[in-house]
Amino acid sequence: MNTLALYRDGKRIATLKPSGKPGECFYLGSAPACDVVVADAAFGLADRQLRLTPGGSLWWAEELTGDGSLESDGRRAARLPIAGRVALSVRGFAFEAECGTAAARVGRRDLARDWLYERALFRLSQEIGGAETVADAELERRVVDFLDETIRECPPQLADLPEQTLAELRAETVEDMLRLGPLEPLIADDSITEIMVIDYRRIYVERAGKLTLTERHFRDPEHLIRVIERIVTPIGRRIDESSPLVDARLADGSRVNAVIPPITPDGACLTIRKFGKSLFTLDKLISIGSLTLPMARFIEASVTLRKNIVVSGGTGSGKTSLLNAISLCIGGGERIVTIEDSLELKLQQDHVVRMEARPANAEGKGAVPIRALVANSLRMRPDRIVVGECRGGEALDMLQAMNTGHDGSLTTVHANSPRDTVARLETLCLMAGMDLPLSAIRAQIVSAVDLIVQTARLSDGSRKVTAVTEVLGLDDRGQPRLRDLFVFRQSGVDPKTRKVLGEHVVVGRPTFLGDFALRGVPLDTAIFDGVPDEP
Ligand SMILES: Nc1ncnc2c1ncn2[C@@H]1O[C@H](COP(=O)(O)OP(=O)(O)O)[C@@H](O)[C@H]1O
Ligand SMILES: [Mg+2]
Repeated sequence: MNTLALYRDGKRIATLKPSGKPGECFYLGSAPACDVVVADAAFGLADRQLRLTPGGSLWWAEELTGDGSLESDGRRAARLPIAGRVALSVRGFAFEAECGTAAARVGRRDLARDWLYERALFRLSQEIGGAETVADAELERRVVDFLDETIRECPPQLADLPEQTLAELRAETVEDMLRLGPLEPLIADDSITEIMVIDYRRIYVERAGKLTLTERHFRDPEHLIRVIERIVTPIGRRIDESSPLVDARLADGSRVNAVIPPITPDGACLTIRKFGKSLFTLDKLISIGSLTLPMARFIEASVTLRKNIVVSGGTGSGKTSLLNAISLCIGGGERIVTIEDSLELKLQQDHVVRMEARPANAEGKGAVPIRALVANSLRMRPDRIVVGECRGGEALDMLQAMNTGHDGSLTTVHANSPRDTVARLETLCLMAGMDLPLSAIRAQIVSAVDLIVQTARLSDGSRKVTAVTEVLGLDDRGQPRLRDLFVFRQSGVDPKTRKVLGEHVVVGRPTFLGDFALRGVPLDTAIFDGVPDEP
């Protein structure tokens, strides 16, 4: 573990041992609760004067009061790296800090990297100045030229570093200055499905459903903001104090959300939902246990029967992926219109018209909401309408479309159970502001929706179809009647691996079972043999 030892007048005054917990930090100041207490009135340190944070291979010292007194080897900054042994002083309180030996070795690389970056940034700002805009390619050429030149000159900061390290530093500096910096390798890593930047120091990733903290970090809060700007500006969005929330997309289609202070007081926050390169097909989903072969075949045949299907689930439960997999079953001879907030679906059919909603511009104009697209799609002679997600009044238009001849349509809804899906659809329809009575809305819903496919992210990070449910109609009291056809029965959790145990079971017979044979849609209906109508 990378410990930090503090010395004063050659005597060790403290040893800080990080436990490896994310976000861990230590304080130096006059308050008794600090990890290093400096109560001597001569220095007049604040309660919490310095924050000492382990940052992978080195440590960071950060001055918290903004008094500008933090200094190391004649260099003043609000935040300074500690690699190897360095002399530090704050408000005249002088001490030495030393991190572990392994850290000192790697620390030199980090210092060289910082040095190179700052030099290049300085040079670039001198060359380019303020107003002049320079094309990206030109910018990159200048940076690369400057780095090559600097490395060739071999200044003391880079002396003795192996060729390989220099090449890495050069590439990292280009990434930091012109691309997405520490995010680049995470974006390139296909095993990562989500990237979550909590603040400039902490970047979490999701791999196979599990969250882990990475070793990567931005240089400082401004670096993070610059990277966010680099993402949003090319696609005509902007982020600043007056519009601190922004949705954007990376060139590869990954979805980005950024929020900056004052909304997030701890610094800018960035979330990237990676655009999975691998396509989820039903076969793929079967192979990873998200559903079974009979379930997949049943859903597929129901699509062919032109059943209206709603995929429901929580955020990140795999709704969009499953919708995509289900949509792949639509026959090639049909005209498909897809409508999304942000392009995610990847249909493979030839005849697909894609539409994407647009938020308002900075002046609050030009918004094209999903709802307008659904209404418009009806005039485009669609055979199937696929709406990425219903999250507002468009639900009503969608249901009306399903009820008026555009059957076989598909969408997703944010809900935690099939019953909740119906309730959620009611709420969304009310958002359309058409002043319809609830009973009329409910009647629309149960007549439009044939099947609800429920997804969930389980405690072990896996995504499963937890229910396939038929919507039958309304009962005497006007309540929706639902029938589960398949459910996932969880039997427990493996005490060692924490993996969820359980199985998918057939629990009910669809009312339209006879239609498959009638309409010549191949389906082995034997799986429903002996299954009662109601579970
Ligand atoms: N069945 C699955 N098994 C494992 N990972 C999945 C599965 N379905 C989706 N994922 C992954 O989970 C994340 C969220 O999926 P997504 O379909 O976008 O969810 P939602 O639309 O519900 O928010 C994506 O990174 C995706 O690659
Ligand atoms: Mg989604």
